[in-house]
Amino acid sequence: MTATLIDGKQISAECRKETAASAEQFVNETGVRPHLAAVLVGDDPASQVYVRNKELACERAGLQSTLHRLPAETTQQELLALVQTLNEDVSVHGILVQLPLPSHLNSTQILDAITPLKDVDAFHPENVGRLLQGRPRFLPCTPAGVMKMLEVSGTETAGRRVTIVGRSDIVGKPMAALLLQKGADATVTICHSRTAEIAEECRRAEILIAAVGIPEFVRGDWVRPGAVIIDVGINRVGDRLAGDVEFAAAAERAAAITPVPGGVGPMTIAMLLQNTLHAARLQHGFVS
Ligand code: GUN
Repeated sequence: MTATLIDGKQISAECRKETAASAEQFVNETGVRPHLAAVLVGDDPASQVYVRNKELACERAGLQSTLHRLPAETTQQELLALVQTLNEDVSVHGILVQLPLPSHLNSTQILDAITPLKDVDAFHPENVGRLLQGRPRFLPCTPAGVMKMLEVSGTETAGRRVTIVGRSDIVGKPMAALLLQKGADATVTICHSRTAEIAEECRRAEILIAAVGIPEFVRGDWVRPGAVIIDVGINRVGDRLAGDVEFAAAAERAAAITPVPGGVGPMTIAMLLQNTLHAARLQHGFVS
């Protein structure tokens, strides 16, 4: 392997340390501990692990977290009522409803019901709109984590060709918005299932971001020699985890690459903690 590894575990540990110090200062100034309320509906095993990791990370950074576990049969009205209660609870600063929700529930309606000031995932249309207009309230966690990895690894984005594979609302679209912002100034291409000559689009990329949720979808020979590769995928394949990039072959051509696990995953959680602290500041009038 010739590529440098971009170590998400290490970078996220630094971020969490900074958030913990700022959170402690906030507690000392206000007497209020930033508080994340997480909602988990049903018993999807991967979601249980993700939510547990988020809770642990809160605890370690000195943030309060409360997990609301609801049975898989929960109705839309019951879940909306819980969101409303959390919206009105002044001791709760951030609300996270873990996705995916069971298929009988309308996720869009639930996410829209979270008050935008507590929307630490940045999924609410008001927060998405603000991001697109270049005046974000919260930065979407996974894309913000990717930006931090690019920054720490010394990867310049201004004027460079970035290809994003995947157009999801959680990663692909907000990732493009962040890279287009003034200051990031990248030239962005988004590829998806109907893109023609996707391998060629990827080969043009100086920075390639894979977020399709298909194991090893991006082949090694789609990588431009010297490119920086960010692999957002976390896919279970038998008893191992695989990213969206064919790692070994890509690492032979890339200048730098993120591993799976230990790449983007830990960064998402670190950014969630930052957003929870930011939400507490917003609600206590420290920032506007
Ligand atoms: N499920 C997978 N990723 C995420 C995320 O970033 N936020 C929430 N709420 N659910 C998810």
